[in-house]
Amino acid sequence: MAIFLLLLFSFTTLSIPASSQLDEFTYTGFNDPNTNISLNGVAQIDKNGILQLTNETSRLLGHAFYSSPIHFKNSTNGTVSSFSTSFVFLIHPEYPKLGGHGLAFAIAPNKELNSALPRQYLGLFNSSDGGNFSNHIFAVEFDTVQDLEFGDINDNHVGIDINSLESKKSAAAAYFNDGLVKMDLNLKCSKPIMAWIEYDSITNVVNVTLSPSNSKPKAPVLSLQVDLSPIFEESMYVGFSASTGLLASSHYVLGWSFRLNGEAKSLDLDALPSLPGIKKKHTGLIVSISVMAVVFVLTLILIGVYLIRKVKNAEVIESWELEIVPHRYKYQELKKATRGFKESELLGLGGFGRVYKGTLPNTKTVVAVKRISHESKQGVREFVSEISTIGRLRHRNLVQLLGWCRRGSDLLLVYDYMPNGSLEKFLFDEPKCVLSWGQRFRIIKGVASGLIYLHEGYEQIVIHRDVKASNVLLDGEMNGRLGDFGLAKLYDHGSNPGTTRVVGTLGYLAPELPRTGRATTSSDVFAFGTLLLEVACGRRPVESKAEPEELVLVDYVWNKWKEGRIFDVVDERMKRDFDENEVVMILKLGLMCLSNEQLARPSMRQVVSYLEGEVEIPKVVRAPWACRGEVGFEDYLHSYASSSFEKTSSYSMLGTGDVDRSFPSISTSPLTLLHGAR
Ligand SMILES: *[C@@H]1O[C@H](CO)[C@@H](O)[C@H](O)[C@H]1NC(C)=O
Ligand SMILES: *[C@@H]1O[C@H](CO)[C@@H](O)[C@H](O)[C@H]1NC(C)=O
Ligand SMILES: *[C@@H]1O[C@H](CO)[C@@H](O)[C@H](O)[C@H]1NC(C)=O
Ligand SMILES: *[C@@H]1O[C@H](CO)[C@@H](O)[C@H](O)[C@H]1NC(C)=O
Ligand SMILES: *[C@@H]1O[C@H](CO)[C@@H](O)[C@H](O)[C@H]1NC(C)=O
Ligand SMILES: *[C@@H]1O[C@H](CO)[C@@H](O)[C@H](O)[C@H]1NC(C)=O
Ligand SMILES: *[C@@H]1O[C@H](CO)[C@@H](O)[C@H](O)[C@H]1NC(C)=O
Repeated sequence: MAIFLLLLFSFTTLSIPASSQLDEFTYTGFNDPNTNISLNGVAQIDKNGILQLTNETSRLLGHAFYSSPIHFKNSTNGTVSSFSTSFVFLIHPEYPKLGGHGLAFAIAPNKELNSALPRQYLGLFNSSDGGNFSNHIFAVEFDTVQDLEFGDINDNHVGIDINSLESKKSAAAAYFNDGLVKMDLNLKCSKPIMAWIEYDSITNVVNVTLSPSNSKPKAPVLSLQVDLSPIFEESMYVGFSASTGLLASSHYVLGWSFRLNGEAKSLDLDALPSLPGIKKKHTGLIVSISVMAVVFVLTLILIGVYLIRKVKNAEVIESWELEIVPHRYKYQELKKATRGFKESELLGLGGFGRVYKGTLPNTKTVVAVKRISHESKQGVREFVSEISTIGRLRHRNLVQLLGWCRRGSDLLLVYDYMPNGSLEKFLFDEPKCVLSWGQRFRIIKGVASGLIYLHEGYEQIVIHRDVKASNVLLDGEMNGRLGDFGLAKLYDHGSNPGTTRVVGTLGYLAPELPRTGRATTSSDVFAFGTLLLEVACGRRPVESKAEPEELVLVDYVWNKWKEGRIFDVVDERMKRDFDENEVVMILKLGLMCLSNEQLARPSMRQVVSYLEGEVEIPKVVRAPWACRGEVGFEDYLHSYASSSFEKTSSYSMLGTGDVDRSFPSISTSPLTLLHGAR
């Protein structure tokens, strides 16, 4: 075994450029001092000989090109020679399901690509040179984000790009197995993927082939007939480019071979360096040895567990409690931390329970402890099993759940303490301190980034269900962080099984919710839309003290928009000191998110790309209530007045403590939609 490993090791470190000729090279790892690779951007070669184009930081780009130009045209008639290349890449995204943005094999007239941008431009183009013949760029993109701007088919595709990111042809990432059956391939799987790109100058065909293993499939996943002669200059540089956007991936190249007028040397996955921390599939001996070892260890553990169980035969904790991941605090510890849940430590209260400030006795960490009482023990039990999901969510724009404690039907949740309290405190009534536009915009972007993580960044979709200003908390640096995600579900698990209660807060509640009873990512987007308008206008979604035509915020904004007096709605306390383009964008986006039609609302991903300026917001915005004909509006007024509001589900974690006064939550009546209350 040791000898075998040694052999493997020496293989990986020996990166032999197979030929000194300029038109052929092979790299099995890049750590040879003679590697003729020019890097720019953040690209680097790590100590294992792995070429890393980007890391998991936002908005980076990295280039790695073979240092010498390749003479693609070596004839008087100006025909591009055939070429073939094979390489192994690995994409490791920051969040398991969200890549950003992708990697490309590129052939370009220079190796700097100075004016190229990161994000959706993949480090190849900029916002103005797309499609220009003067680019002379040929690329094969391995794209992990769907940019509608370039007509991307999905967020996991291969495309052939010529002078533009609008692919000439693209295909979902896949490979053909031995039986020529097409198999899906996830580019963001954090495992090495082999790629072959071949061009034949007689048939003028480019083939792109992918495989998760060494053996080259018999059929390409993408094939395009194109004459590259007009695109290529006489000499061109070959290499790779990758970029990250708001969301980031590490993009790696583990090995690479290239050949002009012939087939590139085949690479062997097992002979390439592997990434520490990211496991590589080994075959043969290693697999059998490690399988045997694992089986052996497992058997030992099982025997051990069996013996211990038998010997101790003690009280067993219920299995569902074992699965809970975040720390389980002792009740006494939390009691001590909050000085016996003293009134003076109270930060806020709401429908679910009270929030106390506490200092953990051991670590002296300041935390917020939420004490929830629930009439049903069953409800708490179900919720506690969900804590394992919530506790694993980690994002800089979420209020981190640190741990929990259950005592009968009492539930204590321990969170990071947010020194600046809730956003609500800074927006409504008579705030002590007026947020600048810059601060507001940053808070909005933060919340959006937290929400997209809940919707897409985790193994399962997490729906917040109660996005609103009082659930947005501000940390010491005034970053917006979403709190209380998933908590609304506790309410769902109410004492009355069989009926689904609609949870949320009036004004933030998507119109389809009372009808379908099902919270979706799109109902979160609706609530986010309300939040956008609130932040820009500095007022609540329904202001009972306002003039009738200003009663409902979205109507008020829409009417001013139609009149062309949009800046009238902006929070006067900012004294007109704001970026007009950003304000218009936020208000437009708010109106889009607040569409009555679920399908007309953007996804959180689109919202984020608008906020980041990666995509320009549409010029025309439709009226939010495009389909109101379906529901009579007198009915609405009627039900608005007579429906029963429940004053419990809205609460603030660290907020002002009397959130619910003018801001009731809604229970079940199907017609109590705020939106119709006009
Ligand atoms: C790298 O390039 C230099 C000059 O371009 C050349 O002399 C050298 O042989 C090349 N090395 C390899 C390993 O290709
Ligand atoms: C990524 O690279 C940039 C530039 O080299 C560096 O500033 C940043 O700290 C790196 N990020 C991580 C997560 O390693
Ligand atoms: C290019 O042409 C020259 C002479 O015309 C020849 O010696 C050389 O081998 C050619 N190279 C390739 C890669 O075809
Ligand atoms: C161009 O020249 C190359 C070699 O000189 C030859 O192989 C190829 O067939 C020619 N192509 C055309 C279109 O004449
Ligand atoms: C885009 O790139 C082109 C060259 O490809 C350059 O001339 C132009 O100035 C760049 N535009 C911007 C906005 O950077
Ligand atoms: C293409 O790029 C060149 C130089 O960068 C510029 O002069 C030209 O106007 C561009 N053409 C178009 C259609 O953008
Ligand atoms: C491209 O793929 C097609 C279909 O499998 C094959 O017939 C052709 O020979 C391939 N061409 C190259 C250059 O590999």
